[in-house]
Amino acid sequence: MTIKKKRVIFLDRNENQYGPSPACFKVLQRSRDNTLNIYSRDFERGIKSLLSERLAKDFGIEEKKILLGYGSEDILKQSVQCYINKGDKIMIPSYSWWYYKKIADEAEGVNIQYPIVEGKGTFYYDIEGMIKVHDTQKPKLVLISSPNNPTGNRLEFDQLNFVLEKMKESVVVLDEAYSLFDETYNTDPVGLVKKYPNLIIIRTFSKYYALAGIRTGFAFLGDNHDRISLLSARYLGFNRLSEKIAIAALDSKEYYNSMRKKMSADMVMLFNELTQLPGFNAYRSFANFILVKIPPEIKVPLKKYLTERNMIIKFMNEDGLESHIRITLGTHSQNCKLLKMIKSFMSKEIVHELV
Ligand SMILES: Cc1ncc(COP(=O)(O)O)c(C=O)c1O
Repeated sequence: MTIKKKRVIFLDRNENQYGPSPACFKVLQRSRDNTLNIYSRDFERGIKSLLSERLAKDFGIEEKKILLGYGSEDILKQSVQCYINKGDKIMIPSYSWWYYKKIADEAEGVNIQYPIVEGKGTFYYDIEGMIKVHDTQKPKLVLISSPNNPTGNRLEFDQLNFVLEKMKESVVVLDEAYSLFDETYNTDPVGLVKKYPNLIIIRTFSKYYALAGIRTGFAFLGDNHDRISLLSARYLGFNRLSEKIAIAALDSKEYYNSMRKKMSADMVMLFNELTQLPGFNAYRSFANFILVKIPPEIKVPLKKYLTERNMIIKFMNEDGLESHIRITLGTHSQNCKLLKMIKSFMSKEIVHELV
C-alpha cells in the first residue's frame, strides 16, 4: 500500500496560488531550441527586450523609460545601490517588508523610519508625519510601498500626488508589487513619472500574474534616471523564456480578471469571518494578503495546530506586530479550509484545552 503524502498549503509568502494563465504554459510547451541557445538580438534594434517593448506600447511610454529586472527585488536593489552611498539616508515605512532594511544595510545606508499607524480596522500612512520626517531628515531616497506589505493599506492617488509634490528633492521609489489585486487602484504610473522626474515605480509579474518563478519585474522611470537605465541595460538580453511567458500573461486579461474577482470575494469573506472571532482584528487590505491581530496567548498553539495540519501562514515577529498573523489569500478552497481550521481551533473545546 502506498501512503499518500499530504500536500502542504503555503499561505505565508504572498504567492499567488491560482497559478499563471494557461497561455503561459503554452509558451513553455512551444519554446523552440533557438530560444535557449541563442542570445536575443533586441539590443541591435535599440531596445532592451520584447517585454520592455511590449510594456512601453501597452502603457504609452518610451521603451527606454522601462526598466527590467530579476523580480522587483532586483530593481529595488539596483535603485538603492545606484543612489545610496555609505551614510546616506533612506526613508522606510515603520511597518514594511523586512527586506527593505536589509537592502539599505547592504548599501551601508542609514534607515530612517516614517510612520504608518494603526487605525480602526485599517493601517494608514500618516502623511503629515511622513512629510515632517522627510523635511527634517532630508533623505537621499524614500521608499514607499502601496499597497504596503504587511499592513495591506495603500496611498490613494491624490495622497500620492500630495506626497510626491513635497519630496521632489529625493529619489522616490514606489513599490507597487501588489497594486493590481484591487480593481480600483489607479496611480497612472506613466503620468506620475512624467510629472515627477525623481520617481521610479516598480511592478512585478510575481504576484498578480502568479509568475514568481520567472523572476521578472519592471519599472517606470522618471527623467532623472537615465543612469540607472544605462547601468541595468543588458547587451546580451534578458531571460528569453521569462519575457515570452510574461507577454503571454499580459495577453490573458480575462483569466486574471476572473481570478481577481474570486480573490476579492474571498478577501471580504476572510475579513468578515475573522473579525468576528473573539480577540481577532482584521485590517483592510488592498493586496493578496490580510494582516490579522490575534490574542497573544494563542500565537504559539495556533501555529502548532495549523502546521500539524499542513497549513502554513505567517506569524509576524516584527516590533509592534508580535501578535499578528499575515494570511496570503489562496484559492477559494484553500481559503475555506484555512478558515475552517482557525474556527475549529477557536471552538471552545480546543481553546479551553490550551489556555
Ligand atoms: C512589498 C514587496 N515588494 C517586492 C517584493 C518582491 O517581489 P518579486 O521580487 O518577486 O517581484 C515582495 C515580495 O514578497 C514584496 O512583498
